[in-house]
Amino acid sequence: MKKVTKCVIPAAGMGTRFLPATKALPKEMFPIVDKPVMQYLVEEAIAAGCEDIIIVTGRSKRAIEDHFDSNPELEQRLDDSGKFDYLRKVKNLNEMANIVYVRQPYPKGDGDAILRTKNLIWDEPFLVLFWDDIIDNEITAAQQLIKKYEETGSPIIATVWVSESEVSSYGMLEGELDGDTTKVTKFLEKPKSHETDSRTAVIGKYVLTPDIFDYLENAASHTWDGEIRLADAFIDMQKNRDIYGLEVQGVRYDTWAKTG
Ligand code: G1P
Repeated sequence: MKKVTKCVIPAAGMGTRFLPATKALPKEMFPIVDKPVMQYLVEEAIAAGCEDIIIVTGRSKRAIEDHFDSNPELEQRLDDSGKFDYLRKVKNLNEMANIVYVRQPYPKGDGDAILRTKNLIWDEPFLVLFWDDIIDNEITAAQQLIKKYEETGSPIIATVWVSESEVSSYGMLEGELDGDTTKVTKFLEKPKSHETDSRTAVIGKYVLTPDIFDYLENAASHTWDGEIRLADAFIDMQKNRDIYGLEVQGVRYDTWAKTG
């Protein structure tokens, strides 16, 4: 079995919900205390063993690239003034991992963003971390997902338990529940709460296998609104192969929500 060494972070979304904050600042650069959300995701990927991080960006997302680049003037100034702690923090950022940027020219869905990494991923399993969720736990969510992938050889979807009123905001998984793991028999994208008994909701962290690209291309061939959705690819994929949901351990911060 191939190891998971690549991580895709889709970061092209416009962040409309957070306007005016996102007019000039990418939502991925919102700080949690003194670190942007994007840095948490990159650190999560590295701690889980990823060597190549592929960030899918778009127009007005330059701040993400600058954050992981060098800043010689700042570094010199910190060095001259003896602020070595800060200097280390700043310099570490450009040495963290091999970060590659791919641009998504139009907002054509989360599936389109992932499809744009096809030629970089090629035939390997890969981690996907969306901006929406930060999970605080000693064993990170990415590590939990990769462990489950190594046990099953199948795509793994991170899940959380939600209340009935939240069901219609999420992809929901039906299936056979075994402890923290759901063997998926049905993927429902944002169903009404009376359409499913499931409370197992999909969040924005996955280990995907490279055959996902075939399903995304298929979804692209019959999109009704120009968007390609990862959820549609999952719905198709689940008919042909095993997919598992894993209820991840840890405290979840939902960056998608203002209170989160
Ligand atoms: C997307 C997915 C959905 C998932 C959700 C949570 O929806 O389509 O299946 O449950 O993310 O991160 P979005 O919230 O982007 O509309």
